[in-house]
Amino acid sequence: MGLQVAVIGAGLMGHGIAQSFAMAGHNVKLFDASEETLKAAPERMAASLAELGQEAAPVLSRVELCASLKDAVRNSDVVMEAASENLALKRAIFAEASETAPPDALLGSNTSSIPITEIGRELPESARRRLVGIHWWFPPVLIPLVEIVSTEFLDPEYFERAFKLIESIGKEPVRVMKDVPGFIGNRLLHSLVREALSMVDAGICDGETIDKVVKSSFGRRFSVLGPMEGVDLVDLSLVRDVHSYLFPSLEKSGEPSPLLDRLIADGKVGVRSLEGVRKWTPGQVTETRKRVSDGLIEFARRDRAQREK
Ligand SMILES: NC(=O)c1ccc[n+]([C@@H]2O[C@H](COP(=O)([O-])OP(=O)(O)OC[C@H]3O[C@@H](n4cnc5c(N)ncnc54)[C@H](O)[C@@H]3O)[C@@H](O)[C@H]2O)c1
Repeated sequence: MGLQVAVIGAGLMGHGIAQSFAMAGHNVKLFDASEETLKAAPERMAASLAELGQEAAPVLSRVELCASLKDAVRNSDVVMEAASENLALKRAIFAEASETAPPDALLGSNTSSIPITEIGRELPESARRRLVGIHWWFPPVLIPLVEIVSTEFLDPEYFERAFKLIESIGKEPVRVMKDVPGFIGNRLLHSLVREALSMVDAGICDGETIDKVVKSSFGRRFSVLGPMEGVDLVDLSLVRDVHSYLFPSLEKSGEPSPLLDRLIADGKVGVRSLEGVRKWTPGQVTETRKRVSDGLIEFARRDRAQREK
């Protein structure tokens, strides 16, 4: 029988997280402080299910929209928070949720940048021992990875419960043993972005070249060969030699890139202004979004076919 999952926040991430639980057979109670966002959720889920070639009705029948946070969490086994990125707001949500939800409910936060430990700091011990970072990636329905993040207050039983729950819905959980900024995925991604911006700023190449280099070389390999498998295949002594020549010249700044500061000051903020690191036409923006969505759907279809084999 499905669990009762309360999802708090029905925005970009929340409606997709709710859909992922409902697709796996769980009963979801969804709440958002914005009535408009809440009401739009079923339509957004139906559109996503249509893209996946799945019937919407059985999934949507497991999603109930709730008029208050208390209604959503009252009988929940799991409270999954995906509300706006604000510490005071998240603390208030978990304070209210932990008073109303059953005393053994798993509490999860989808924050991307606020330490989970800080969100739990002012909660009673009986609640913060159940609060886990459950960090999904956008779009949550299509990206398998979910980072399960420990805190200094967490009861290991709840860490494992969160891991197994996410695994049971067909996602790929990983354990993040320390509550560090960026968890694992964003630390890796932004290390690369820091070096890329630094090379563009130094005139080594332009943004288009960076994208071409990544997409037509190790970007292709990365979905079939992780970097740690890679260094072992190459041989560690060679990797060490490469690092001894290369590392002294890599970007090590602890500040955001000055290139970003200059572009932002010039109003070049990305596709929103049709120029960021690269220049865009409206057609290219639409084409890029479609290419990403089609590519991720194709990956999801392949994963499903693999599981059903
Ligand atoms: N967008 C991403 O790519 C991404 C990826 C991973 C994690 N996250 C994290 O997920 C969370 C949600 O991000 P998003 O991109 O879905 O933002 P969003 O703005 O699309 O959605 C946030 C929703 O929270 C609602 N909200 C605000 N206060 C609330 C309250 N008291 N109770 C219930 N709902 C409330 C808002 O009305 C809004 O609909 C953030 O913590 C964000 O850091 C985002």
